[in-house]
Amino acid sequence: MTYPENVAIDAATGAIAPMVEHYEKRLADLRDVFSDRQAVDRMLAEDQNILVYQVRAFKREGCDLWFGTTTIEPGQVGREYFMTRGHFHKRRDMGEVYYTQAGEGLLLLQSRDRQIETMEMRPGTSSLIPPDWAHRSINVGTDPLVFVWVCNIEAGNDYGEILEKGMLRHVIAGAASPEIIDPLA
Ligand SMILES: [Fe+2]
Repeated sequence: MTYPENVAIDAATGAIAPMVEHYEKRLADLRDVFSDRQAVDRMLAEDQNILVYQVRAFKREGCDLWFGTTTIEPGQVGREYFMTRGHFHKRRDMGEVYYTQAGEGLLLLQSRDRQIETMEMRPGTSSLIPPDWAHRSINVGTDPLVFVWVCNIEAGNDYGEILEKGMLRHVIAGAASPEIIDPLA
């Protein structure tokens, strides 16, 4: 039997306890995610170890749900903000919920029939990601962006299409505020 359990979440950092899974994505792992490859190379030449985001998760055998946090560092690669890879779920009938705890972000969503939606991520905002919408989170602020995610354990992440083709919009730093533009050449 699976018993009820509380998980402590540090809203400022995304640290969770107990933590069952943890991974970090560094700029060196994300070369193909950012458009400005020269900017990637310049940054990596100075520091091989730049952290872009990390995911911490909690799950228990016998439960259909799991949850955790994603923490995206503030930063830019050229004009593009630090962001996650972006993915569809393997299970096309399963969505997800995000709850933003700290920072300032944009959630970029793309449906299979190539509709685009963007939603603000601010502390206290809860976002519904419907089934079969690809989702990518982007830190457009100056502090870490921390959000809690909850989804079905069977949902699975399918990174292939977004890694191969990218998304139909990019979010870049404008003169005064973030701009959502067509993909950079
Ligand atoms: Fe997801």
